[in-house]
Amino acid sequence: MVLPVVVALQLLAAAPLALSVSITDIQGPAFLSPLLGQTVRDITGIVTAVISDSGFYIQGNRTDDVRVSNGLLVFTESSSILNKVSVGDLISLSGKVAEFKESSEPNDLLGTELDDPTDIVVLSSGNTVEPLVLGQDRSPPTEKLSALDIGPDGWLSVPNNVSLIDSVNATLQPDLFGIDFWSSLEGQLVTVPSPVALDFQDSFNEFWVRGDWPASGLNSRGGLTITELSDGLPDGNPETVIIGDPIDGTTNPTTSVGMTFSDITGVVQFQFGFYYILPLTAPTVLAVPSADIPSATIAPSDDACTITIGDYNVENMAPTSTNLPPVANHIANFLNLPDIMFLQEIQDNDGEVDDGVVDANVTLTTLTDAIASASSSGFQYAFFDIDPVNDQDGGAGGGNIRQAHLYRSEKLNLVPGSPVGGSLDATEPITSDGQVTLSFNPGRIDPTNSSWDDSRKPLATAWETSNGERFFTVNLHLVAKTGDTSESVQGNARPPVNTDVAKRTSQVEIVAAFVKQLLALDPNASIIVGGDCNDFVQTRSVFAAFDDILTELDVNSNVPLVERYTYVFQQSSQQLDHLFVSSAIAARGTEIQHIHVNNWGPSLATRASDHDPSVAQVKVC
Ligand SMILES: *[C@@H]1O[C@H](CO)[C@@H](O)[C@H](O)[C@H]1NC(C)=O
Ligand SMILES: *[C@@H]1O[C@H](CO)[C@@H](O)[C@H](O)[C@H]1NC(C)=O
Ligand SMILES: *[C@@H]1O[C@H](CO)[C@@H](O)[C@H](O)[C@H]1NC(C)=O
Ligand SMILES: *[C@@H]1O[C@H](CO)[C@@H](O)[C@H](O)[C@H]1NC(C)=O
Ligand SMILES: *[C@@H]1O[C@H](CO)[C@@H](O)[C@H](O)[C@H]1NC(C)=O
Ligand SMILES: *[C@@H]1O[C@H](CO)[C@@H](O)[C@H](O)[C@H]1NC(C)=O
Repeated sequence: MVLPVVVALQLLAAAPLALSVSITDIQGPAFLSPLLGQTVRDITGIVTAVISDSGFYIQGNRTDDVRVSNGLLVFTESSSILNKVSVGDLISLSGKVAEFKESSEPNDLLGTELDDPTDIVVLSSGNTVEPLVLGQDRSPPTEKLSALDIGPDGWLSVPNNVSLIDSVNATLQPDLFGIDFWSSLEGQLVTVPSPVALDFQDSFNEFWVRGDWPASGLNSRGGLTITELSDGLPDGNPETVIIGDPIDGTTNPTTSVGMTFSDITGVVQFQFGFYYILPLTAPTVLAVPSADIPSATIAPSDDACTITIGDYNVENMAPTSTNLPPVANHIANFLNLPDIMFLQEIQDNDGEVDDGVVDANVTLTTLTDAIASASSSGFQYAFFDIDPVNDQDGGAGGGNIRQAHLYRSEKLNLVPGSPVGGSLDATEPITSDGQVTLSFNPGRIDPTNSSWDDSRKPLATAWETSNGERFFTVNLHLVAKTGDTSESVQGNARPPVNTDVAKRTSQVEIVAAFVKQLLALDPNASIIVGGDCNDFVQTRSVFAAFDDILTELDVNSNVPLVERYTYVFQQSSQQLDHLFVSSAIAARGTEIQHIHVNNWGPSLATRASDHDPSVAQVKVC
């Protein structure tokens, strides 16, 4: 990656008077420079890094004020200027103070820089700058991201994007808020001692780390989970930083969660949504966590009322997908062939060919055959799904992703007597022969409601156990976030934008209304609702409609807070996949395990899905 090449954003007209200033005068204690737009002279600093075609960093003397950085980016594309300076040179120069962001990243924070450098004089060479050692000299806060994240759910509050950091231009509170902390180090040379990777590398070979400093939400793999803080608000994991492209042209190693490295020294720079450390050189890998991933200890029971449930977003699975054999192996040998699988992202028979095919029977047959091959018993699942209307449910174009169930037909069957629902049929709870069932079984819930536009309609099913008891499931794949920099947790918009949160909330409300209808017919109904919900339970507003009627299995099963995750994205291990149960099931005792076959894997290349599967045990009678 390269540094910004677009013309700097000017917020004020240039003042004609050239002031003699220090780097700390330019940086000041707030987000924006107090000297913005001014032409300044006699700035002195030691060159800490030169980025081949876009500028160099200088560092001056510190002040006692921890809010004020003593580092600065001098922006220039001029090779004649760049050729004048070398790392270790003490220089003086003049220039114009600017705040810059790339126009293609409107949610980025402005970064202070010196533009149009002139009068460069090398005063001496061979000087050294001692980097600030994070964890020793200064440590990042561990809980909150920004003072502007106001609202009932902290940084996950709705409404979001109610204020902009650059517009408020508050003075920094680096001891309390992560964005303020990293901003207070802008342009400075820092060392991350004993870094630990928090995710796989991204497509630019960048990766998130924590260093040898206090952390909250630490899970057993070494990642940081989004958990609840003592005040009930979600942990934003501000004690993390992304490592960018090495300045010397070396290449970062590929990473996985928990991998450890040699110390990383580099300059702090906001770009592409986050405060980065641009390392002077690539770190070396010191240790790699075990690739031996434990299987679930939950396994199917002979008891007709005890049901094991697997839940797995199998990421765009078509019959020819390379991830199909490994997913089959996961279901057979890591989830122990659950009685029911909740699957999401099953594609139609010709995958992403957009030709009107919506049937997925070949996909599901290929998967169930592969599971039979992968299991020592040759176990063959039964399956069902409901086709969507072509190209109406979102996801990869032409793929027609949908939820599906695999199930053990010797132990479970669908309650007979109701027709199978079509794409647009709304199933509803009804009483028939004195027993509760669904008007279409299986069926989709309120599929024509506009809240499901371009999104997957829920798949509802009434089941019968081999001893004649009934229970109900709803398999969800709620509308997704985008994952791009418009949603960055370190972005300008506070609280951060949560794309389609209103739609996700109303989807949960529709499902909650359906569950209430079931409970109105039978307050003791055994109901299991879940799948890929595309949000964290810490975004409490999204799941509020479930509060009085369903309990999350992680809560009911007392899973430690830090081990509640099924997904790793950027700096955080997080839970997008949830199973919720009605009070009748909750009262009988439950268990759930998240099996990290993908996110504990040795590399991004070997991952079969971006989600980890879960397996649960519940008693439905
Ligand atoms: C930002 O805040 C600092 C400190 O209060 C102030 O000096 C500066 O003028 C402000 N900049 C803008 C553009 O408001
Ligand atoms: C830091 O301060 C000392 C003492 O005033 C001065 O000699 C030196 O040049 C300053 N360094 C820089 C980089 O400005
Ligand atoms: C899929 O369904 C079609 C149409 O019902 C049928 O002809 C075909 O044999 C099925 N394929 C498999 C693998 O079950
Ligand atoms: C969709 O569902 C919501 C929540 O139940 C309801 O308020 C709304 O009226 C429904 N919209 C349509 C078009 O049916
Ligand atoms: C946040 O709101 C501002 C207006 O205050 C708007 O310009 C911007 O596009 C919004 N950001 C995102 C990412 O939606
Ligand atoms: C619900 O179950 C409880 C305990 O199993 C039982 O006492 C109660 O009568 C049941 N209620 C209904 C409405 O079936």
